[in-house]
Amino acid sequence: LSVEGSVEAKSTTIEERVVLRNAGSIDPRNIEEYIALNGYQGLAKAFRMEPRVVIEEIKKSGLRGRGGAGFPTGLKWEFTQKVDSPDKYVICNADEGEPGTFKDRLIMEGDPHSVIEGMIIAGYAVGASKGYIYIRGEYFESVASLRRAISQAYEYGLLGASILGTDFSFDLSVRLGAGAYVCGEETALIESIEGKSGRPRLKPPYPPVSGLYNKPTVVNNVETFACVPPIIDKGANWFKAIGTNSSAGTKVYSLCGNLVKRGIVEVPMGTTVADLVYKFGGGIPDGRAVKMVQTGGAAGTFIKPEELGAPLDFDSFKNFGAALGSGVILAIDETHCAVDIAKNLMEFFAHESCGKCSPCREGTHIIVHILNEFSKGRGTRELFDQLYDVADTMEDSSFCGLGQAVPIPLRSILDRFKDEFLAHVDAPQCPIGVCKFDKKK
Ligand code: NAI
Repeated sequence: LSVEGSVEAKSTTIEERVVLRNAGSIDPRNIEEYIALNGYQGLAKAFRMEPRVVIEEIKKSGLRGRGGAGFPTGLKWEFTQKVDSPDKYVICNADEGEPGTFKDRLIMEGDPHSVIEGMIIAGYAVGASKGYIYIRGEYFESVASLRRAISQAYEYGLLGASILGTDFSFDLSVRLGAGAYVCGEETALIESIEGKSGRPRLKPPYPPVSGLYNKPTVVNNVETFACVPPIIDKGANWFKAIGTNSSAGTKVYSLCGNLVKRGIVEVPMGTTVADLVYKFGGGIPDGRAVKMVQTGGAAGTFIKPEELGAPLDFDSFKNFGAALGSGVILAIDETHCAVDIAKNLMEFFAHESCGKCSPCREGTHIIVHILNEFSKGRGTRELFDQLYDVADTMEDSSFCGLGQAVPIPLRSILDRFKDEFLAHVDAPQCPIGVCKFDKKK
């Protein structure tokens, strides 16, 4: 494992809650409970600042996008603010579709006003008067929570015309997705809001310059918006002091898979995978050993037990792609077969590929076909090498992040479990006993 950048490993046993500051301790259905705990203080303070000063503060805080890619939030807002356009938009990407990820759901259901307040501050900073929350339709409770909170915010003069007596107006509404993973890709999401089929657009131009209805548009993740109010309220330096040099603040993780304690935790950036697995996740149940951990969601990297000391932030694992992603820690124990895990994951991508470009449409199915051959005991060394060839082609020529991301988990599991894949070629049976074939018969 090669870790680049100024990444410091943080060992911690207690949560540090910035995003989840209220979740679980207030009644999310009651705006007054949010207000009583400094809710909308960040907005009130932002209104006393020039919009460009708000953007400077977000830039200074070091806040980076929590959807997965870690793009600097203040810079994104600055791009949007600088474009001269009467119409601009703010979109919250709540289409949380990454397998294993359920952190945004807790934020939306536990503290919906933190997201709404962050969006209004973004609208004020960039000069947008309309916002949308695009949320996956399966999140019934989150949809209800957001709709309730939005209508309360209108009632309290926090949305709509002349907010808090200023000359700034901002309207906000919810749009529902219909189950397509690709609609979490920001340009497919924008197409979907426009009423078109959810397929990605070519980038650049990026949404901050040309987004919804080809107007400048800020698209940020739920968790990113929830970070904004306390940053403005408490100041950039407070936020920057948490986390690592290059990745400020905390990160909310979804702990899942073979863990004693599954759920959501929030810890400073730089916390190690080992701490998340053992201290917060309680380790692997029934005395079994950990075999691998996938960090970052479906598009994330598989790592082996000896690599669990790696600190998680945006710049760790740079050499082999995404590590942090949407913040999933998926623990997989020794009873699972690497071929089967890879096959299961690649079937997901093949199902969710939107079909717009052939490298992704065909590539994902070719990969599934090859992995199926391994799981039936018909794998060969040539087919093993072909998986890398297809990954290279997909990385180089897929149209959007979905196809470009597939090689990250694929290569990481092939690299680390090569022997297990080749045992499916040489041995009479699957070494773990998961794939059902017997070459002796
Ligand atoms: P990206 O790197 O293309 O863009 C990230 C953000 O930065 C976008 O909002 C983009 O508009 C902006 N950006 C990048 N370059 C820019 C520029 N030059 N000017 C202006 N804005 C710019 O990454 P992408 O494809 O948007 O996201 C990939 C990430 O999404 C991965 O880390 C993956 O793990 C994560 N992901 C998260 C999911 C979830 O459920 N949260 C689901 C699937 C993927």
